[in-house]
Amino acid sequence: MSAVRTSKMAATEKQILCVGLVCLDIINVVEKFPVEDTDTRCLSQRWQRGGNASNTCTVLSILGAPCGFMGSLAPGRVSDFVYDDIRRYGIDVTNVIVHAESSFPTSIVISNISNGLRTILHTDRNLPDVNSEDFRKIDLSLYKWIHWEGRNASEQVAMIQQVEQYNATVPTERQITTSVEIEKTREPLYQLFGHGDVVFVSKDVARHFGFNSASEAVKGLYSRVKPGAYLICAWAEKGADAMGPDGAFHSNAFPPEKLVDTLGAGDTFNAAVLFSLCNGKSIQESLMFGCQVAGRKCGIQGYDGIV
Ligand code: ADP
Ligand code: FRU
Repeated sequence: MSAVRTSKMAATEKQILCVGLVCLDIINVVEKFPVEDTDTRCLSQRWQRGGNASNTCTVLSILGAPCGFMGSLAPGRVSDFVYDDIRRYGIDVTNVIVHAESSFPTSIVISNISNGLRTILHTDRNLPDVNSEDFRKIDLSLYKWIHWEGRNASEQVAMIQQVEQYNATVPTERQITTSVEIEKTREPLYQLFGHGDVVFVSKDVARHFGFNSASEAVKGLYSRVKPGAYLICAWAEKGADAMGPDGAFHSNAFPPEKLVDTLGAGDTFNAAVLFSLCNGKSIQESLMFGCQVAGRKCGIQGYDGIV
């Protein structure tokens, strides 16, 4: 197939839009976790584009889904690096908003190669999140699915309501499916449970509510989601569970031969589940696909090589 034909097709195919954070991850790979007040030599150090919504876009793009990122950026050298990388993956940046007066959010990551665990020190100084007024300007007809990484929740609820109003004006086949991720244990984020056709809740939030497994969490929190929605909870090496109108589902994890890097495992899982559901697969198949792709991610540094 010629390149021209491919790009024309891509232009007409509807995208998955992810709304949330893009940041810089400065990743320090170490042999073992450092002791305080010591001087450690890293095995390697790299810059990587990060942020949940941005990572989810990376994985969607690797899986072959046309996708776009909506979030805020601060100009400067980091922004140039991030833009170049985002473009390298063919992620649409039409809805990126630049704030000249802000600084770029950055994470220092200690990635322990002996167990794959990652420790994140994140700073998000003064970059405002996109809001419902920014969202009002976008052309919703370009999207088949919109995913929100829970951040400025009440604004995000207003965005989801805009999508619901749009959906009420178009035939079923042109309606947009919505999903939200509730990852951080912050009270305002919990209003997002009641929105979204698919709700991802993290094990941190599940634990905060007193649940000790993904299956307990999806059952215990299901009354918070809107009727007909799916609630999904990933739990590292235990795999992931879901609850929907048709019952409860589970997938085991697919551990790699060696755990190398779990940074962004959850974002990878979310992307693979979205990709699979978008392609008409069942929730059970999608949970398994999510765990397979996330498992492969944990066996490599970064995201290239997950398929
Ligand atoms: P995060 O903490 O990055 O949000 P999770 O730890 O919940 O994400 O993991 C998301 C998915 O990644 C899990 O459902 C699982 O499929 C995979 N995963 C994460 N850690 C491991 C691990 N140690 N072994 C196997 N799979 C893992
Ligand atoms: C991984 C991640 C990193 C980022 C951090 C922000 O899920 O998105 O890329 O530094 O979380 O909390």
